[in-house]
Amino acid sequence: MILQKLELRDFRNYELLSLSLSPQVTIFVGQNAQGKTNVLESILMLSLAKSHRANRDSEMIRWGTEFASVSGQVERNQRTYSLDLKILNRGKKVRVNGIEKRKISDFIGHLNVVLFAPEDLMLVKGAPQNRRRFLDIELGQMSPQYLHNLAQYQKVLQQRNNILKDGERMDAGLVGTLAVWDEQLIEYGTKIIRKRLEFVDKLQQFSSDIHKRITSGGEELTLNYKCSLLENGDAADQVSENFRQQLVLRQKDDFRRGATSVGPHRDDIEVRIDGKDVHIYGSQGQQRTAALSMKLAEIELIRHEVGEYPVLLLDDVLSELDEMRQLHLLDSMGERVQTLITTTMTYGLEDLMREKAVVYRVTDGEIHQS
Ligand SMILES: Nc1ncnc2c1ncn2[C@@H]1O[C@H](COP(=O)(O)OP(=O)(O)OP(=O)(O)O)[C@@H](O)[C@H]1O
Ligand SMILES: [Mg+2]
Repeated sequence: MILQKLELRDFRNYELLSLSLSPQVTIFVGQNAQGKTNVLESILMLSLAKSHRANRDSEMIRWGTEFASVSGQVERNQRTYSLDLKILNRGKKVRVNGIEKRKISDFIGHLNVVLFAPEDLMLVKGAPQNRRRFLDIELGQMSPQYLHNLAQYQKVLQQRNNILKDGERMDAGLVGTLAVWDEQLIEYGTKIIRKRLEFVDKLQQFSSDIHKRITSGGEELTLNYKCSLLENGDAADQVSENFRQQLVLRQKDDFRRGATSVGPHRDDIEVRIDGKDVHIYGSQGQQRTAALSMKLAEIELIRHEVGEYPVLLLDDVLSELDEMRQLHLLDSMGERVQTLITTTMTYGLEDLMREKAVVYRVTDGEIHQS
């Protein structure tokens, strides 16, 4: 799919921006703090209605103004969609082809993107939270249902934890209330886990091939969804039952800690190279390469699921990779994937893509073709 046009109004440091994008490669060059990542963030908003870095949506409204808007024109499957998103101090409004959607989930997923930022190189090395966020972002843009279940799960989890915190001592009434929340937690949690199991399984198939290519046939990469509710050998349909058992079993402990100690919010992806856990045994380079393989696999997986390649957003990431991995990255997208790259340096990159790329210069919230 192709993002043909992007328009911003009072988004971050952009008062007004109107851009046409190359179906192939667009490079945004500029010094620090000029607004390069802001552009990519706005595109993520069009895809997910959620930012990868803002805690609150209102952070994206240009200082001193009332609301921000992001609009884009997307071509996919020979059809054109216009997407509009308005961020107000309270809430968001979204439109597809001019028609307002009351549910955000009816907006999400018209545009698919894969964002690769320097912090993604920590995907394998970092805490489990990074890998769960990766799952949620990628699954979320392919499945609005998943996003819905996730939001419900988080709401119920919060409620449950509030009870655990309030309960100075466990009495029968409190335990009864807890049981009501438990059933909902199990319902949504099980749906989330099933989706994640399926997703990691598919991702594994693509990433294993890609990783072999990047390491010249050397390394066998395996991914495994590590679920706190499945013992080795358990079938996926045992999740709900195990979840129910564990919640009861850990109830006393959970009351003491004031938090819920099992569920998909505690899960992880296990990444292995030649059978060894990369998180524990991998070298820095192996951890980065595994992260790259997972990101590249995502591109293929989205294509497999939605029938078209997503738009690839590379935020300042090429300079973090050595030349061989840069070439793999650029090679594997080839001509097929629309790619937007931000960078602080012009040399190197331009040599690689001078002919193919449109180069824009970003200065203090303004963008001009260079
Ligand atoms: N709500 C806002 N209103 C106005 N300006 C904002 C707002 N939020 C952020 N900014 C400005 O945007 C700038 C950061 O932009 P951005 O993160 O896109 O920079 P960048 O070009 O990617 O820089 P780097 O190369 O350091 O990553 C900040 O310096 C800040 O001044
Ligand atoms: Mg940046």
